Amino acid sequence: MGLGSIRQTVLVTGAAGFIGSHLVDRLLAEGYEVVGLDNLMTGDLTNLENARRDPHFHLEIGDVREPLPAYAEIIFNMACPASPVHYQADPYATVTTSALGAIRLVEHTRRSRCRIVHASTSEVYGDPLEHPQKEEYWGNVNCAGERACYDEGKRVAETILMDARRTHGADVRIVRIFNTYGPRMALNDGRVVSNFITQVLEDKPITLYGDGSQTRSFCYVSDLLEGLFAAGTVSEFDPPINIGNPKECTVAELAQIVMKVSGKNLELVRHPLPADDPKRRCPDITKAKKYLGLQPKVSLEDGIRRTYDDFEGRIARRRSR
Ligand SMILES: NC(=O)c1ccc[n+]([C@@H]2O[C@H](COP(=O)([O-])OP(=O)(O)OC[C@H]3O[C@@H](n4cnc5c(N)ncnc54)[C@H](O)[C@@H]3O)[C@@H](O)[C@H]2O)c1
Repeated sequence: MGLGSIRQTVLVTGAAGFIGSHLVDRLLAEGYEVVGLDNLMTGDLTNLENARRDPHFHLEIGDVREPLPAYAEIIFNMACPASPVHYQADPYATVTTSALGAIRLVEHTRRSRCRIVHASTSEVYGDPLEHPQKEEYWGNVNCAGERACYDEGKRVAETILMDARRTHGADVRIVRIFNTYGPRMALNDGRVVSNFITQVLEDKPITLYGDGSQTRSFCYVSDLLEGLFAAGTVSEFDPPINIGNPKECTVAELAQIVMKVSGKNLELVRHPLPADDPKRRCPDITKAKKYLGLQPKVSLEDGIRRTYDDFEGRIARRRSR
């Protein structure tokens, strides 16, 4: 960490979630004092089992929409439900978590001058008309649709934070995270990776939405963490910056990889595409390479194998309870 014996304090909101909990583990391993804040809307305290044994970790059950509790030199704002099943279950909570959360961050940094790393999303591009998506692209979002509580919430959060940067020089670092997967994803989050893996583990037919030709670019969580951690620690940052893996794969190919990893061959069942579901998603990570040194390393097959093993273990533990 380069701070001698003094540990920098970092606040991670959304600490009990999938990405937030991996970030907490990484920050503790790097020698930070870490405060985790979470209202447990979608988080799971078992994700923090290791962290909670560490004396340098402090958990606060609380809400990012309230004034923020801890003094911190850096805040990573990860709080927000991220999968359509979760964020559409309570759209008001979703949109207010992004918008009010961003206002709380700005209030906090005006007092403390702390650095803010904000988790935005590829969803700010909506159903994009340009490929791959560069940060300069303004997006194609339906502001009145079912996904707007998430997409527009994230867009207004970017607005609030960028204004704070322009008007009073706040150290704001916005990362637009693209589809990330890995151990600790919620089993029931309805995302394509979790759906396929749970279906295969339960020997159920695999549900393909549309004809399966829509693409996603899946980033394994350890690769994402390299970019996210760098976003909080590098000296120069030019927000916003996309982070993810630019390797595209169709949803039908993903189904084949999950079956290969499991050694099973299951039936594919087709369903209509959900509303406003993007047909293609692929980050341009030129900026992330330049500013954050991002270079995804984990192949989709390796990442799916690690995720599959994690899901298998968690499902077995649930069954044995
Ligand atoms: N997973 C992805 O592929 C992905 C892609 C793009 C962006 N992101 C962003 O990354 C962040 C983390 O995503 P994730 O996949 O880990 O999701 P997650 O649902 O696993 O984690 C979100 C965490 O935030 C907490 N939370 C929600 N509302 C809160 C509030 N008002 N106050 C305090 N805590 C609150 C939840 O309980 C949960 O622990 C989110 O901001 C999400 O929008 C994720």
